[in-house]
This record gives sequence, C-alpha cells and structure tokens, in this order.
Amino acid sequence: MFDISSVVKYKAIEPSYTTKDGCRIVWEGVDEDDTDVVILNKNELSNLVELFKKNSVGEVELEDQSSYIRVNSDVTQFNLSNHGLLEVDTNQIQEDVLEYAKVPHEPQYVYIGTKEFYPSIWIRDDDKVQREISIKDPKKSLIQAILSSEPEKIRQDLSPTDLFRVFATRRSTRKFDKTKVEDWKIDKILSAADVAPTAGNFQGFQVFLIKNKKTKEALVEAANKQPYVNAPVVLVFCTDPSRVKLKFPPEILDKFSLQDATIAATFSLLAASGVGLSTIWIGMFDEEKVKKILGTDLRPSSILCIGYPDKKKPPKSRRHLKELIRVIE
Ligand SMILES: Cc1cc2nc3c(=O)[nH]c(=O)nc-3n(C[C@H](O)[C@H](O)[C@H](O)COP(=O)(O)O)c2cc1C
Repeated sequence: MFDISSVVKYKAIEPSYTTKDGCRIVWEGVDEDDTDVVILNKNELSNLVELFKKNSVGEVELEDQSSYIRVNSDVTQFNLSNHGLLEVDTNQIQEDVLEYAKVPHEPQYVYIGTKEFYPSIWIRDDDKVQREISIKDPKKSLIQAILSSEPEKIRQDLSPTDLFRVFATRRSTRKFDKTKVEDWKIDKILSAADVAPTAGNFQGFQVFLIKNKKTKEALVEAANKQPYVNAPVVLVFCTDPSRVKLKFPPEILDKFSLQDATIAATFSLLAASGVGLSTIWIGMFDEEKVKKILGTDLRPSSILCIGYPDKKKPPKSRRHLKELIRVIE
C-alpha cells in the first residue's frame, strides 16, 4: 500500500456525527477532495486512549477487522484497508486524543439514524448470540423480558440502497474511475427522474443523456472548464415550462419547471448513490453555451455527472441541526 501521508496531513480530532462516544480523525490534503476521515467507534477510541494514557506502543484493531492503528513511540500509523498509509507524529495525536477524551462531546452533525453505522461493518458473532440466548432466564415472564431487553441494534444489514443509508453516506466526487457504468444503473437513474414529483404532475423538465464524447468535451468548456464534467455518464436537466398546463403567469410556470428539473436531478443523484455510483452536481455553466451544444431552447438547470468514484470518501460535515432549523411556534 502506498504512503499518502506526504500529501495528506493529520488535522484534528472532531466529534462523531451521531454519538457522544466515537470521534472523527480528520486528515487534510491539497484540495477539498483529498480530505480523509477515519471514524472511530466508542471501543476503538477508548482502546486508543488506553494506549496513550499508558504511554505504550501497540495496536488498535478497527471494526472491519482488517484495518488497525499502530502506535509506535515516534509515529502512529493508520493502516486502513484499501487505503494508503496515514501517519502522524505520536506526541501530537496522543495529546489531541487525551484532550478530546476528557469530556463528552455532542454529536456535531445532522442526525440521520443510519449514519451511526457508517462506515463500520458489523460482523455478526453467531456464537455470542447463542451464548446470550442460552443464559436467558426461561422463567422470566414475557413482559419482564420485553421491559428488560435492550433495543435491538437495528439495520446492521442495511441494504446499500436503503434511502437513509444513501443520505448518510453520499458524497460528491470530482474524480471518476474509468469503469463503465452498467446500462441497468443508467436506467434506474433515469427512471428515478421520471418518478420525481412535479407541479401538477406535468413533468416540466427534460433530461439529455450525453453519450457523445465531443459533446461532453464541449460541456466541459461551457461549464467553466470543470474537467470532471467529462464523466462516464452525463445528464443535463432542462426546464420545460411549456409542459406545465396550469393557468398561472409565465414566471410561476418558469419557477415550477425549475423546481421540477431540480427535484428530478436530485432523485437521479440519490438513485446513482443508491447503486454504488457517485456524482457531482454542476450548477456553474454558461446556459446559452449549453443550449447551443444541445441544440435546444430549453433552459438547462443542472448537469449531473455520474460514475464510479476514484476513491470512496466519507460525507462532509454540515452545520448543527439546531442552526439549520428555525422553529416557529
Ligand atoms: C446547486 C449546486 C450547484 C453546484 N455547482 C457545482 C459546480 O459547478 N461545480 C462543482 O464542482 N460542484 C458543484 N456543486 C457541488 C457542491 O460543491 C457539493 O455538493 C458540496 O460541496 C457538498 O458536498 P457533498 O455533495 O459531497 O455533500 C454544486 C452543488 C449544488 C447543489
């Protein structure tokens, strides 16, 4: 595994998105896309704290059972599966981890239930389940059993297409792998656009699926030379107010069709994430140039670039939910 620690530097320890117990160890790269985050759960963090408290060297195994953190006296190494080696000065991370562990931390992210399990893989210990079953008191009444039982840890086997998992794990990509996107996935992405809600169900939008290489290159130019517009799958969402047969002034129909096209693109974005692809939404482009390239009078609202991500990344942080929501009582 190659060493990427020269391009990615340890930055800080942050609270977990969803619980008071774990943490996120953040690494910074040259640009935003190079940011890496190692997410530790409660046990992993407390094992690391133990090592640092005792000033010992040793290893902390991570939940996927193949990744581990190796604490040496000089440098601490993060050996993560399918990832380059990350290194940090032991004194530095020791100080930060011990400082971090002194107080409980509020989760810093919008709470989405399934996020709690990202990106850990829960590995079922069937022996443990058997042991637990066998020690249960058979004489205990059903009601006692219910009252004393722990809520079952849900969603360990969450499907990759589960909507909440998609919300919780989605992350934009600007570096796509060359792998061809299967046609059935493109179908799903397009059919997601088709089922999106639209004003009066008039579907005031049109989607252009760009297969032509030269057209993709022209779109790169039209989109401020953003190179990733030349992605394996490129969809241009356009508004079509003429489809919206509602008796409202033209500006309202324009607004409706812009919303229709935007929601449809969002549905496609989520569908793409659900089938293991990643996307970048492009809003920065010259509308007149795009119209000309497509040979249409319809107004383009967004370009959705889709493909397999070059590298899977954890989602970006957001503001606190309490800052996002204003409750009017
Ligand atoms: C309306 C809109 C316009 C955007 N335009 C661009 C764009 O022109 N170029 C680009 O690189 N990213 C663009 N993005 C992607 C955002 O930068 C990205 O979604 C944001 O940084 C959050 O990252 P995430 O999607 O990984 O959560 C756009 C996103 C939206 C919603």
